Amino acid sequence: MNLFDVYPIYDIEPVKGYGCRLVDKEGVEYLDFYGGHAVISIGHSHPHYINRIEKQLRNLGFYSNSIINPLQSKLAQKLGELSGYPEYQLFLVNSGAEAIENALKLASFATGKKGVIAFNQAFHGRTSAAVAVTDNPKIRAAVNPGDHVCFLPMEDLKAVEAVLSENNTCSVIIEGIQGIAGINVASVPFLKGLRDLCSKYRAVLILDEIQSGYGRPGKFFAHQYAEIKPDIITMAKGMGNGFPVGGLIISPEFEARHGMLGTTFGGSHLACCAALAVLEVMEQEDLIENARIQGNRLAEHLSCIDQIKEVKGRGLMLGIRFDFDTKKLRQHLLLEEKIFVGSSGDPTILRLLPPLNVNDGEVDQLVSGLTKSLKNEELLIH
Ligand SMILES: Cc1ncc(COP(=O)(O)O)c(C=O)c1O
Repeated sequence: MNLFDVYPIYDIEPVKGYGCRLVDKEGVEYLDFYGGHAVISIGHSHPHYINRIEKQLRNLGFYSNSIINPLQSKLAQKLGELSGYPEYQLFLVNSGAEAIENALKLASFATGKKGVIAFNQAFHGRTSAAVAVTDNPKIRAAVNPGDHVCFLPMEDLKAVEAVLSENNTCSVIIEGIQGIAGINVASVPFLKGLRDLCSKYRAVLILDEIQSGYGRPGKFFAHQYAEIKPDIITMAKGMGNGFPVGGLIISPEFEARHGMLGTTFGGSHLACCAALAVLEVMEQEDLIENARIQGNRLAEHLSCIDQIKEVKGRGLMLGIRFDFDTKKLRQHLLLEEKIFVGSSGDPTILRLLPPLNVNDGEVDQLVSGLTKSLKNEELLIH
């Protein structure tokens, strides 16, 4: 049987990872400033993470959500403490798209309405309700509903209020920082304005922190720079450091009823152990502070490079804009400098999403690899 060929891939086969490094089957080492698409939060193969999952697997790997699983409450408590949302509620799922699917559903259940406001260039996932609020018609199929979604420009509070005042909107959904679009940071006044408008018109404010959360922006969640509290927050990626786990943090105003939401695998013993290990390491190694410090250092160094026209983002979720298509530069970084970086929907923007425990030497290696590559005129095609 062949694989269904939907992913363009590089001819590299990593067989081992440690910290911010990957090693391929020939023994060549790579610096990881992509984190497997913002997933690796505490670094590859962290010993505490391995031990915790291994120990659990020897006892019990999985049972359904019909029995007592104290690891779920332990995770909810730790997450509440570290994220600053102890009074909220947790629903565990397996991926980002599943978190979005459930967040939109919950907002619709709670308000009895159907309309959703999303923003231009947004990416929220590929399943049905999630892809309908993703601003990319190419990945939407006829079976994915979309006529209830209104895409508006970021920063336009007047347009948001005009739609909300029609009174058929159940939720407003926005990324903490737009990732795939090329690292677009919503302004603090815009996020505060959305919070106020959602309260005024009784719409649910959903913050998609799947890529921008979990310490990456130098706070637990990116929206915390605006000091607002959304009604629902979605998480995945960094939450399990590669183990598939996602979740929704839900305001106490939502009342659960049995059967309202559900999933077979969500919140399994192994997933909870992975997620707990991530939080424990984040706390013990002060990784949110490291993300803030190293992110600032990195941004400072990058802004001194002539060919870089703009450095965007917060903490270790950075976008660097050039005035040329970066495809060749990215290939060169990977194949010659042995550094993984991320692309984005905008070909002039590269994304940097390293593990949160990146250190001075690794940041310096990225900066010198990039500086060296930019001396190669052939890569700077305008
Ligand atoms: C902001 C955001 N939301 C949702 C998703 C979907 O997550 P998943 O691929 O785990 O379904 C992604 C994935 O890149 C994302 O970046």
